Amino acid sequence: MTERKRILSGMRPTGALHMGNYLGALANWIGMQDPYDCFFFVADWHALTSDYENPTGLPNYVHEILLDWLSAGLDPQRCTLFIQSKVPEHAELYLILSMITPVPWLERNPTYKDQIVQLQNKDLSTFGFLGYPVLQAADIIMYKAQGVPVGVDQVPHVEITREIARRFNFLYGPVFPEPEAILTQTPKILGIDRRKMSKSYGNAIYLSETEEQVRAKVMQMITDPQRMRRSDPGNPDVCNVFEFHKLYTTADTVAQINTQCRAAEIGCVECKKIMANGLIQALRPIHEKRRFYQDHPDTVRDIIETGSRKARLVAQQTMQEVRQAVKINY
Ligand code: TRP
Ligand code: SF4
Repeated sequence: MTERKRILSGMRPTGALHMGNYLGALANWIGMQDPYDCFFFVADWHALTSDYENPTGLPNYVHEILLDWLSAGLDPQRCTLFIQSKVPEHAELYLILSMITPVPWLERNPTYKDQIVQLQNKDLSTFGFLGYPVLQAADIIMYKAQGVPVGVDQVPHVEITREIARRFNFLYGPVFPEPEAILTQTPKILGIDRRKMSKSYGNAIYLSETEEQVRAKVMQMITDPQRMRRSDPGNPDVCNVFEFHKLYTTADTVAQINTQCRAAEIGCVECKKIMANGLIQALRPIHEKRRFYQDHPDTVRDIIETGSRKARLVAQQTMQEVRQAVKINY
């Protein structure tokens, strides 16, 4: 067998994962475990860049995200799972990369400019927040990852990573490959209020929610906004419930709903009930695994200790090369 390409990706631990996170990222990661040599990690230091004022929730968020990952199907037998801060070499590489990264590269980072405006309630005029992409670059090139599965919002960060890698190689000799973003298809599903699904909008359906909670949220979902009465024909093409149907209902039923909706032969309440059933059925095995890991916190700890140790071996290897390259190896 030829060597599998190495990929790496991470998530900041900011709370339970919702269906948007799952379909937009996690489901893709799960499918990459066999074709790629995968490293997935919890970016806890990155969480601190914007939430340094209140880290109280962090330990819990880290635990939650690990439960979400494992229950959804990341398999420690088939990928390396670790926590960023458990591989302190990331901090050392970040430091060294900070020496060679021009500040204007960071100041013109679209994500940076955007976040400063979006998160007005936080004081983000910190060194650490500006340096966010440098830490991310360290995360990626530490493992000499060739691919980085991310959503479009992260493409500028991968671009900066490539520039930093190229600059390092130019200054000190070839050490790092330039990684490429592997764009994840973002699903068209929205939150229950038809805005982008987001924790902060309070419109999300979570992976860990009970069947009753999921059902209640589905029943609250806004459908085709033009469809006022049951007797009005609807348009599935603009209906968020229908987008979920495409993922969680059998093709025959989807086709049937498509016609019936347009002819006002099915009401939204009935339609939602069918969707909720499909969604709940898909979530059931995830919930089952979640219960297992919830009841076995030691297993979770072992998985993350083992993964972090494995990641650290790779990181230590890379750091030897880096120290040699920058002449800090005496
Ligand atoms: N910045 C990423 C996000 O917010 C998280 C992240 C940190 C990451 N380091 C990474 C993603 C390295 C991919 C590779 O989603
Ligand atoms: Fe959407 Fe179904 Fe209502 Fe049609 S019947 S608008 S697809 S919820």
